Amino acid sequence: MTDLILKIEKLHKSFGEKIILNDLNINITRNTSQVIIGGSGTGKSVLLKCILGLIEPDQGIISYNSTPLNRDTRKEINFYDEIGMLFQGAALFDSLTVWENITFAIKSKRKSDLREIALDKIHKVGLDSTVLDLYPSELSGGMQKRVALARAIAKDPQLLFFDEPTTGLDPIMADVINNLINEIIDEVGATAITITHDMESAKKIADKISMLYKGNIIWSGDPGEIESSNNPYVDQFINGRSEGPIKINIKD
Ligand SMILES: Nc1ncnc2c1ncn2[C@@H]1O[C@H](COP(=O)(O)OP(=O)(O)OP(=O)(O)O)[C@@H](O)[C@H]1O
Ligand SMILES: [Mg+2]
Repeated sequence: MTDLILKIEKLHKSFGEKIILNDLNINITRNTSQVIIGGSGTGKSVLLKCILGLIEPDQGIISYNSTPLNRDTRKEINFYDEIGMLFQGAALFDSLTVWENITFAIKSKRKSDLREIALDKIHKVGLDSTVLDLYPSELSGGMQKRVALARAIAKDPQLLFFDEPTTGLDPIMADVINNLINEIIDEVGATAITITHDMESAKKIADKISMLYKGNIIWSGDPGEIESSNNPYVDQFINGRSEGPIKINIKD
């Protein structure tokens, strides 16, 4: 089996006249934690949606374990059983209890087995059985994030996607979530792809950081290298400066 779990070649996506992804290439190595940074509107979510099959790219190849992904192959290889996704803002189902949320995507199992799985996952994210029958509205934001994490790992996925996992959390809870992500990656032995604006989080959870700008990856490196990248785009982004080569179009 190849070392690459995901290989993205010349991915192109436009909406009308607007080019979002412009021949984007990125390789994701198995068992690594890859973080993708980039400004608002640079296409991070579009990239994720292309990988997940929620958006059809115009051109390009996304291969998972050497299999080029399309609607048919995603089905053939049970792609959706191999991945876990933490949506931005937790995105739990309000009308389902915690255990029902966690096991939502697992089919053909008895209720008692599902509760057992939910209990196992809830322990992994540092909560206990007392939350299993609660509804999301009865949980704090940090607890909701943990439940969403538990849902993301419910099927013991090979590949995990985290979209802005620390957004909206206080710095301490953000750190708790960062630690949990690291533990989960280590324990499950999974590969993780995280999209974030939060540089503290990026440095803490990444084995590799890549920056998306104008439709392509303009820099990749180790978290320890990012401060001294000598790349003016990276410098501007990580230091949060409004002055620099990156021009913010506030209409975007
Ligand atoms: N379905 C769509 N139809 C038309 N335009 C879209 C669609 N989805 C995304 N876009 C456009 O693509 C661009 C990139 O959007 P995307 O959501 O990927 O940004 P992002 O990098 O995730 O930003 P943020 O950090 O704010 O979440 C935006 O200009 C957006 O308006
Ligand atoms: Mg986004």
